[in-house]
Amino acid sequence: MSRPQSFPLAPFPYSRPRRTRMQPWSRNLVRENRLSPHDLIWPVFIVEGTDRAVPINAMPGQSRLSIDLLVKAAEKCRDLGIPAMALFPFVEPDKKSEAAEEAWNPDALMQRAIRAVKAAVPEVGLICDVALDPYTTHGHDGLLVDDEIDNDESIDALVKMALAQAEAGADVVAPSDMMDGRIGEIREALEDDGHVNTLILSYAAKFASGFYGPFREALGVVGNYGPQGKSTYQMDAGNGDEALREVAADLEEGADWVMVKPGLPYLDVCRRVKDAFGVPTFAYHVSGEYSMVKAAAAAGYIDGDRVMMESLLCFKRAGCDGILTYAAIEIAEKLRG
Ligand code: PBG
Repeated sequence: MSRPQSFPLAPFPYSRPRRTRMQPWSRNLVRENRLSPHDLIWPVFIVEGTDRAVPINAMPGQSRLSIDLLVKAAEKCRDLGIPAMALFPFVEPDKKSEAAEEAWNPDALMQRAIRAVKAAVPEVGLICDVALDPYTTHGHDGLLVDDEIDNDESIDALVKMALAQAEAGADVVAPSDMMDGRIGEIREALEDDGHVNTLILSYAAKFASGFYGPFREALGVVGNYGPQGKSTYQMDAGNGDEALREVAADLEEGADWVMVKPGLPYLDVCRRVKDAFGVPTFAYHVSGEYSMVKAAAAAGYIDGDRVMMESLLCFKRAGCDGILTYAAIEIAEKLRG
Protein backbone atom coordinates (compact mmCIF):
# COMPACT_ATOMS: atom_id res chain seq x y z
CA MET A 1 0.00 0.00 0.00
CA SER A 2 1.25 3.54 0.53
CA ARG A 3 4.81 3.73 1.76
CA PRO A 4 6.88 6.69 2.92
CA GLN A 5 9.04 8.07 0.13
CA SER A 6 12.19 8.18 2.23
CA PHE A 7 13.05 6.16 5.28
CA PRO A 8 14.30 7.92 8.43
CA LEU A 9 17.27 5.59 8.86
CA ALA A 10 20.23 6.61 10.93
CA PRO A 11 23.52 6.09 9.12
CA PHE A 12 25.93 3.30 10.01
CA PRO A 13 27.06 2.67 12.72
CA TYR A 14 24.05 4.17 14.54
CA SER A 15 21.90 1.93 12.42
CA ARG A 16 23.02 -1.71 12.34
CA PRO A 17 20.20 -3.90 10.93
CA ARG A 18 22.11 -6.96 12.08
CA ARG A 19 21.42 -6.06 15.74
CA THR A 20 17.85 -7.23 15.25
CA ARG A 21 18.98 -10.39 13.48
CA MET A 22 21.39 -11.53 16.20
CA GLN A 23 19.00 -13.84 18.10
CA PRO A 24 16.03 -16.08 17.36
CA TRP A 25 13.73 -14.23 19.76
CA SER A 26 14.28 -10.84 18.15
CA ARG A 27 13.99 -12.21 14.61
CA ASN A 28 10.73 -13.84 15.67
CA LEU A 29 9.43 -10.68 17.28
CA VAL A 30 9.77 -8.52 14.18
CA ARG A 31 8.90 -11.07 11.48
CA GLU A 32 6.41 -9.28 9.22
CA ASN A 33 4.69 -12.28 7.68
CA ARG A 34 3.95 -15.76 8.98
CA LEU A 35 2.62 -18.91 7.47
CA SER A 36 -0.13 -20.83 9.23
CA PRO A 37 -2.13 -23.95 8.29
CA HIS A 38 -5.10 -21.56 7.92
CA ASP A 39 -3.41 -20.07 4.83
CA LEU A 40 -3.37 -23.35 2.95
CA ILE A 41 -5.76 -24.94 0.49
CA TRP A 42 -5.04 -28.49 -0.59
CA PRO A 43 -5.84 -29.38 -4.22
CA VAL A 44 -6.82 -33.06 -4.41
CA PHE A 45 -7.43 -35.39 -7.35
CA ILE A 46 -10.32 -37.79 -7.11
CA VAL A 47 -10.89 -41.10 -8.86
CA GLU A 48 -13.60 -43.79 -9.11
CA GLY A 49 -13.49 -46.86 -6.85
CA THR A 50 -13.12 -47.56 -3.15
CA ASP A 51 -10.02 -47.66 -1.00
CA ARG A 52 -7.98 -46.51 -3.98
CA ALA A 53 -5.00 -44.17 -3.88
CA VAL A 54 -3.31 -44.06 -7.28
CA PRO A 55 0.11 -42.39 -7.10
CA ILE A 56 0.79 -39.63 -9.62
CA ASN A 57 4.20 -40.20 -11.19
CA ALA A 58 5.01 -36.60 -11.97
CA MET A 59 3.91 -35.37 -8.52
CA PRO A 60 5.83 -37.27 -5.82
CA GLY A 61 3.73 -37.70 -2.68
CA GLN A 62 0.39 -37.00 -4.38
CA SER A 63 -2.24 -39.60 -5.30
CA ARG A 64 -5.66 -39.69 -6.86
CA LEU A 65 -8.08 -40.65 -4.09
CA SER A 66 -11.37 -42.55 -4.23
CA ILE A 67 -14.27 -40.83 -2.46
CA ASP A 68 -13.96 -42.82 0.78
CA LEU A 69 -10.27 -41.86 1.07
CA LEU A 70 -11.12 -38.27 0.12
CA VAL A 71 -13.44 -38.13 3.13
CA LYS A 72 -10.57 -39.34 5.35
CA ALA A 73 -8.32 -36.70 3.79
CA ALA A 74 -10.93 -34.05 4.59
CA GLU A 75 -10.91 -35.16 8.23
CA LYS A 76 -7.14 -34.74 8.21
CA CYS A 77 -7.47 -31.21 6.81
CA ARG A 78 -9.99 -30.37 9.51
CA ASP A 79 -7.72 -31.74 12.25
CA LEU A 80 -4.70 -29.84 10.91
CA GLY A 81 -6.57 -26.54 10.56
CA ILE A 82 -6.46 -26.50 6.75
CA PRO A 83 -9.62 -24.56 5.88
CA ALA A 84 -10.39 -25.90 2.43
CA MET A 85 -9.70 -28.42 -0.31
CA ALA A 86 -9.87 -27.86 -4.07
CA LEU A 87 -11.25 -30.86 -5.96
CA PHE A 88 -10.21 -32.11 -9.40
CA PRO A 89 -11.76 -35.24 -10.93
CA PHE A 90 -9.92 -37.88 -12.96
CA VAL A 91 -12.64 -38.57 -15.51
CA GLU A 92 -12.65 -42.04 -17.09
CA PRO A 93 -12.02 -41.84 -20.87
CA ASP A 94 -15.46 -43.24 -21.75
CA LYS A 95 -17.09 -40.34 -19.86
CA LYS A 96 -15.33 -37.66 -21.93
CA SER A 97 -17.07 -36.10 -24.94
CA GLU A 98 -16.94 -33.19 -27.36
CA ALA A 99 -19.72 -31.40 -25.47
CA ALA A 100 -18.49 -32.32 -21.95
CA GLU A 101 -21.96 -33.30 -20.71
CA GLU A 102 -20.54 -35.31 -17.80
CA ALA A 103 -19.50 -32.00 -16.21
CA TRP A 104 -23.08 -31.28 -15.10
CA ASN A 105 -24.27 -34.84 -14.51
CA PRO A 106 -25.57 -34.83 -10.92
CA ASP A 107 -24.19 -38.35 -10.46
CA ALA A 108 -20.73 -37.63 -11.88
CA LEU A 109 -17.70 -38.39 -9.68
CA MET A 110 -17.23 -34.72 -8.78
CA GLN A 111 -20.80 -34.18 -7.62
CA ARG A 112 -20.80 -37.44 -5.61
CA ALA A 113 -17.51 -36.44 -4.00
CA ILE A 114 -18.89 -33.04 -2.99
CA ARG A 115 -21.96 -34.61 -1.38
CA ALA A 116 -19.88 -37.22 0.48
CA VAL A 117 -17.41 -34.73 1.94
CA LYS A 118 -20.04 -32.16 2.89
CA ALA A 119 -22.10 -34.88 4.63
CA ALA A 120 -19.15 -36.24 6.63
CA VAL A 121 -16.87 -33.22 7.19
CA PRO A 122 -18.94 -30.06 6.74
CA GLU A 123 -16.28 -27.95 8.48
CA VAL A 124 -13.92 -28.15 5.51
CA GLY A 125 -14.62 -25.76 2.63
CA LEU A 126 -14.91 -27.27 -0.85
CA ILE A 127 -13.59 -25.29 -3.79
CA CYS A 128 -14.66 -26.81 -7.10
CA ASP A 129 -12.93 -26.20 -10.40
CA VAL A 130 -15.18 -24.93 -13.19
CA ALA A 131 -13.52 -25.70 -16.53
CA LEU A 132 -14.28 -28.36 -19.10
CA ASP A 133 -10.79 -29.87 -19.52
CA PRO A 134 -11.38 -33.03 -17.44
CA TYR A 135 -14.50 -33.74 -19.50
CA THR A 136 -13.63 -32.84 -23.11
CA THR A 137 -12.00 -35.34 -25.48
CA HIS A 138 -9.48 -32.68 -26.59
CA GLY A 139 -8.63 -31.38 -23.11
CA HIS A 140 -9.50 -27.74 -23.73
CA ASP A 141 -11.23 -25.77 -20.97
CA GLY A 142 -13.94 -24.65 -23.38
CA LEU A 143 -15.91 -26.08 -26.31
CA LEU A 144 -14.52 -26.31 -29.83
CA VAL A 145 -16.66 -25.07 -32.70
CA ASP A 146 -14.99 -25.33 -36.12
CA ASP A 147 -11.65 -25.97 -34.42
CA GLU A 148 -11.81 -22.80 -32.34
CA ILE A 149 -12.76 -22.30 -28.72
CA ASP A 150 -16.21 -20.73 -28.80
CA ASN A 151 -16.42 -18.31 -25.87
CA ASP A 152 -20.18 -17.99 -25.55
CA GLU A 153 -21.01 -21.67 -26.19
CA SER A 154 -18.44 -22.53 -23.55
CA ILE A 155 -20.09 -20.21 -21.04
CA ASP A 156 -23.41 -22.04 -21.39
CA ALA A 157 -21.67 -25.29 -20.49
CA LEU A 158 -19.69 -23.69 -17.63
CA VAL A 159 -22.87 -22.26 -16.12
CA LYS A 160 -24.47 -25.72 -16.11
CA MET A 161 -21.33 -27.14 -14.54
CA ALA A 162 -21.19 -24.51 -11.78
CA LEU A 163 -24.87 -25.01 -10.99
CA ALA A 164 -24.42 -28.79 -10.69
CA GLN A 165 -21.56 -28.25 -8.24
CA ALA A 166 -23.51 -25.70 -6.21
CA GLU A 167 -26.50 -28.03 -6.18
CA ALA A 168 -24.27 -30.83 -4.82
CA GLY A 169 -23.11 -28.53 -2.01
CA ALA A 170 -19.94 -26.83 -3.24
CA ASP A 171 -19.02 -23.90 -1.01
CA VAL A 172 -16.98 -22.19 -3.71
CA VAL A 173 -17.10 -22.52 -7.48
CA ALA A 174 -13.80 -21.61 -9.08
CA PRO A 175 -13.89 -20.92 -12.82
CA SER A 176 -10.41 -21.65 -14.18
CA ASP A 177 -11.37 -21.55 -17.85
CA MET A 178 -10.56 -17.89 -18.70
CA MET A 179 -13.55 -17.36 -21.02
CA ASP A 180 -14.65 -13.70 -21.20
CA GLY A 181 -17.82 -12.88 -19.29
CA ARG A 182 -18.29 -16.21 -17.53
CA ILE A 183 -18.23 -14.84 -13.99
CA GLY A 184 -21.26 -12.62 -14.60
CA GLU A 185 -23.27 -15.42 -16.18
CA ILE A 186 -22.40 -17.87 -13.42
CA ARG A 187 -23.25 -15.31 -10.73
CA GLU A 188 -26.61 -14.58 -12.31
CA ALA A 189 -27.46 -18.27 -12.63
CA LEU A 190 -26.49 -18.93 -9.00
CA GLU A 191 -28.70 -16.07 -7.82
CA ASP A 192 -31.62 -17.22 -9.98
CA ASP A 193 -31.31 -20.73 -8.58
CA GLY A 194 -31.23 -19.59 -4.98
CA HIS A 195 -27.54 -20.31 -4.40
CA VAL A 196 -27.02 -16.83 -3.03
CA ASN A 197 -24.24 -17.83 -0.64
CA THR A 198 -22.11 -19.81 -3.08
CA LEU A 199 -18.78 -18.04 -3.36
CA ILE A 200 -17.02 -17.47 -6.67
CA LEU A 201 -13.25 -17.70 -6.64
CA SER A 202 -12.20 -16.55 -10.06
CA TYR A 203 -8.99 -17.77 -11.62
CA ALA A 204 -8.82 -14.18 -12.82
CA ALA A 205 -5.17 -13.89 -13.86
CA LYS A 206 -4.35 -17.32 -15.20
CA PHE A 207 -1.35 -17.53 -17.48
CA ALA A 208 -0.65 -19.98 -20.31
CA SER A 209 2.08 -21.89 -18.51
CA GLY A 210 4.47 -24.77 -18.84
CA PHE A 211 4.25 -25.21 -15.09
CA TYR A 212 0.94 -27.10 -15.45
CA GLY A 213 2.64 -30.16 -16.96
CA PRO A 214 2.33 -32.62 -14.04
CA PHE A 215 -1.31 -31.62 -13.42
CA ARG A 216 -2.26 -32.86 -16.87
CA GLU A 217 -0.89 -36.31 -16.05
CA ALA A 218 -2.76 -36.28 -12.74
CA LEU A 219 -6.01 -35.47 -14.48
CA GLY A 220 -5.48 -37.88 -17.37
CA VAL A 221 -5.85 -35.08 -19.91
CA VAL A 222 -4.54 -36.19 -23.29
CA GLY A 223 -3.88 -32.58 -24.28
CA ASN A 224 -4.77 -32.68 -27.95
CA TYR A 225 -4.80 -28.89 -27.97
CA GLY A 226 -3.63 -27.91 -31.44
CA PRO A 227 -0.77 -25.55 -32.33
CA GLN A 228 -1.85 -22.63 -30.13
CA GLY A 229 -2.32 -24.66 -26.97
CA LYS A 230 -4.40 -22.74 -24.45
CA SER A 231 -2.93 -19.38 -25.50
CA THR A 232 -6.16 -18.11 -27.08
CA TYR A 233 -7.72 -17.89 -23.60
CA GLN A 234 -4.97 -18.09 -20.96
CA MET A 235 -2.78 -15.00 -20.55
CA ASP A 236 0.64 -14.27 -21.99
CA ALA A 237 3.42 -14.58 -19.40
CA GLY A 238 4.75 -11.15 -20.32
CA ASN A 239 1.65 -9.25 -19.25
CA GLY A 240 1.08 -7.55 -15.89
CA ASP A 241 -1.30 -4.66 -16.64
CA GLU A 242 -3.61 -7.07 -18.42
CA ALA A 243 -3.83 -9.13 -15.23
CA LEU A 244 -5.26 -6.11 -13.43
CA ARG A 245 -7.87 -5.61 -16.16
CA GLU A 246 -8.86 -9.30 -15.92
CA VAL A 247 -9.23 -9.04 -12.15
CA ALA A 248 -11.23 -5.81 -12.42
CA ALA A 249 -13.63 -7.38 -14.92
CA ASP A 250 -14.20 -10.48 -12.79
CA LEU A 251 -14.84 -8.42 -9.64
CA GLU A 252 -17.29 -6.25 -11.52
CA GLU A 253 -19.09 -9.37 -12.70
CA GLY A 254 -19.49 -10.71 -9.17
CA ALA A 255 -16.39 -12.66 -8.15
CA ASP A 256 -15.89 -12.73 -4.36
CA TRP A 257 -12.26 -13.79 -4.43
CA VAL A 258 -9.58 -13.78 -7.11
CA MET A 259 -6.62 -15.95 -7.95
CA VAL A 260 -3.27 -15.57 -9.67
CA LYS A 261 -1.81 -18.67 -11.29
CA PRO A 262 0.92 -19.99 -11.42
CA GLY A 263 2.42 -18.71 -8.19
CA LEU A 264 6.09 -18.01 -7.61
CA PRO A 265 7.03 -16.62 -11.05
CA TYR A 266 4.00 -14.29 -10.74
CA LEU A 267 4.43 -12.85 -7.24
CA ASP A 268 4.62 -9.36 -8.74
CA VAL A 269 1.12 -9.90 -10.11
CA CYS A 270 -0.12 -11.07 -6.68
CA ARG A 271 1.23 -7.91 -5.07
CA ARG A 272 -0.23 -5.63 -7.72
CA VAL A 273 -3.64 -7.27 -7.48
CA LYS A 274 -3.69 -7.04 -3.68
CA ASP A 275 -2.62 -3.39 -3.72
CA ALA A 276 -5.01 -2.37 -6.47
CA PHE A 277 -8.17 -4.09 -5.24
CA GLY A 278 -7.72 -5.15 -1.61
CA VAL A 279 -9.93 -8.20 -2.09
CA PRO A 280 -9.19 -11.75 -0.88
CA THR A 281 -6.35 -12.78 -3.17
CA PHE A 282 -5.15 -16.32 -3.69
CA ALA A 283 -2.24 -17.83 -5.53
CA TYR A 284 -1.92 -21.31 -6.97
CA HIS A 285 1.48 -22.87 -6.29
CA VAL A 286 0.94 -25.20 -9.25
CA SER A 287 1.95 -28.75 -10.01
CA GLY A 288 5.19 -27.91 -11.82
CA GLU A 289 6.34 -25.67 -8.98
CA TYR A 290 5.64 -28.43 -6.46
CA SER A 291 7.32 -31.15 -8.51
CA MET A 292 10.42 -29.04 -9.18
CA VAL A 293 11.03 -28.76 -5.44
CA LYS A 294 10.43 -32.49 -4.96
CA ALA A 295 12.75 -33.43 -7.84
CA ALA A 296 15.57 -31.14 -6.76
CA ALA A 297 15.26 -32.40 -3.18
CA ALA A 298 15.32 -36.04 -4.33
CA ALA A 299 18.50 -35.30 -6.30
CA GLY A 300 20.04 -33.83 -3.17
CA TYR A 301 20.40 -30.35 -4.68
CA ILE A 302 18.25 -28.52 -2.13
CA ASP A 303 16.64 -29.03 1.27
CA GLY A 304 13.10 -29.67 0.04
CA ASP A 305 11.29 -28.97 3.31
CA ARG A 306 13.08 -25.70 3.77
CA VAL A 307 12.51 -24.55 0.19
CA MET A 308 8.83 -25.48 0.33
CA MET A 309 8.30 -23.57 3.58
CA GLU A 310 10.18 -20.54 2.25
CA SER A 311 8.23 -20.57 -1.03
CA LEU A 312 4.88 -20.59 0.74
CA LEU A 313 5.88 -17.83 3.17
CA CYS A 314 6.85 -15.64 0.20
CA PHE A 315 3.25 -15.77 -1.04
CA LYS A 316 2.23 -14.13 2.23
CA ARG A 317 4.84 -11.40 1.78
CA ALA A 318 3.45 -10.80 -1.72
CA GLY A 319 0.02 -10.10 -0.21
CA CYS A 320 -1.79 -13.41 -0.71
CA ASP A 321 -4.53 -14.38 1.73
CA GLY A 322 -4.29 -18.05 0.86
CA ILE A 323 -2.25 -20.46 -1.20
CA LEU A 324 -3.36 -23.52 -3.11
CA THR A 325 -0.52 -25.99 -2.68
CA TYR A 326 -0.03 -29.73 -2.99
CA ALA A 327 2.29 -29.45 0.00
CA ALA A 328 -0.56 -28.30 2.27
CA ILE A 329 -0.66 -31.44 4.43
CA GLU A 330 3.09 -31.85 4.93
CA ILE A 331 3.55 -28.13 5.63
CA ALA A 332 0.62 -27.96 8.05
CA GLU A 333 2.09 -30.95 9.91
CA LYS A 334 5.45 -29.19 10.15
CA LEU A 335 3.87 -25.92 11.28
CA ARG A 336 2.00 -27.81 13.98
CA GLY A 337 4.99 -29.83 15.11
C1 PBG B 1 -7.56 -26.42 -15.95
C2 PBG B 1 -6.66 -26.31 -14.80
C3 PBG B 1 -5.28 -26.47 -14.89
C4 PBG B 1 -4.79 -26.36 -13.60
C5 PBG B 1 -5.87 -26.12 -12.75
N1 PBG B 1 -7.02 -26.08 -13.51
C6 PBG B 1 -4.42 -26.80 -16.06
C7 PBG B 1 -4.54 -26.03 -17.28
O1 PBG B 1 -5.07 -24.93 -17.32
O2 PBG B 1 -4.09 -26.54 -18.30
C8 PBG B 1 -3.34 -26.52 -13.25
C9 PBG B 1 -3.01 -26.72 -11.83
C10 PBG B 1 -1.64 -27.23 -11.61
O3 PBG B 1 -0.79 -27.30 -12.51
O4 PBG B 1 -1.38 -27.59 -10.46
N2 PBG B 1 -8.71 -25.75 -15.96
